[in-house]
Amino acid sequence: MLLPAAGSGERLGRGPKAWLEVGGRTLLDWALAAFAWADERLVALPAGYSLDHPGVRFLPGGRTRQESVYTLLLEARGEVVLVHDVARPFLAPAVAQRVLQAAHRHGAAAPVVLVPDTLIQDVDGFYGPPAPREAYRLVQTPQGFGRELLLEAHRKARQEGLEATDDAQLVLALGHPVALVEGDRRAFKITYPEDLLLAEGLARVWQE
Ligand code: CTP
Ligand code: MG
Repeated sequence: MLLPAAGSGERLGRGPKAWLEVGGRTLLDWALAAFAWADERLVALPAGYSLDHPGVRFLPGGRTRQESVYTLLLEARGEVVLVHDVARPFLAPAVAQRVLQAAHRHGAAAPVVLVPDTLIQDVDGFYGPPAPREAYRLVQTPQGFGRELLLEAHRKARQEGLEATDDAQLVLALGHPVALVEGDRRAFKITYPEDLLLAEGLARVWQE
C-alpha cells in the first residue's frame, strides 16, 4: 500500500493532514490501521519529517501528490499496489477488497460514488448547461494497479508533463482501462474545515 501523506493541507488550514487528529488519532494512524493487513506499507511524509513505525517505510514526499506517489512507487515491490490518500480516514475493508480484486482482474481499478447533487457548468457566474449527473462519478481511493502498469503510467506522465490529481488518470492516458468498483460515501476526502465536523461524528460510530 502506497500512502501519499506529504500534502500541506492548505485548504483545511490546519497544517499537514497526516498529523491532523480525528476521533483522537492522527489521519496517518487511521490509514495505517486500515492497511494493517497489507504486505508492504510505504508512506510519503512532508519534507523534514521522519517516523518510526513497525512494518512501515517512510520517505520524503514530492512537490505534488503525483510526485509523492512516484517516489513511493519506485520503492514498491508488490505485484499489485493500492494507492490511498491519507486524507480519507474512513475506509471500510470491503472497499479495499473490491478494489484489490478488480485490480488483480483488470490491472487497474478505482472506487467511485454517485453524484448526489445537480451538476452544472458555471458560465461566468451564471447557471450553465446541466450535466447528466447519472453519467458521472466521484472518484475515491484506494485505487489499485499492477505495479508495472502504474510505473509505466507515471513515467509517461513525467515525460509528457501530464499532471493529474489521481493515478487512474495516468493509467487511462496510457490507453489502459480502469475498472470501477463501488466506493463508500464515508470514504470522503477531508478537504475543507467543515469536513472535520462530519469526520468527528463518523469517528464516534466507526468500527474497524
Ligand atoms: N499529497 C502528497 N504530496 C503532495 C501533495 C499531496 O502526498 N505534495 C497527498 C496528501 O497528503 C493527501 C493526498 O495527496 O493524502 C490528496 O491531497 P489533498 O487532499 O489535496 O491534500 P493536501 O494536498 O494536503 O491539501 P491541499 O491541496 O488543500 O493543500
Ligand atoms: Mg492537494
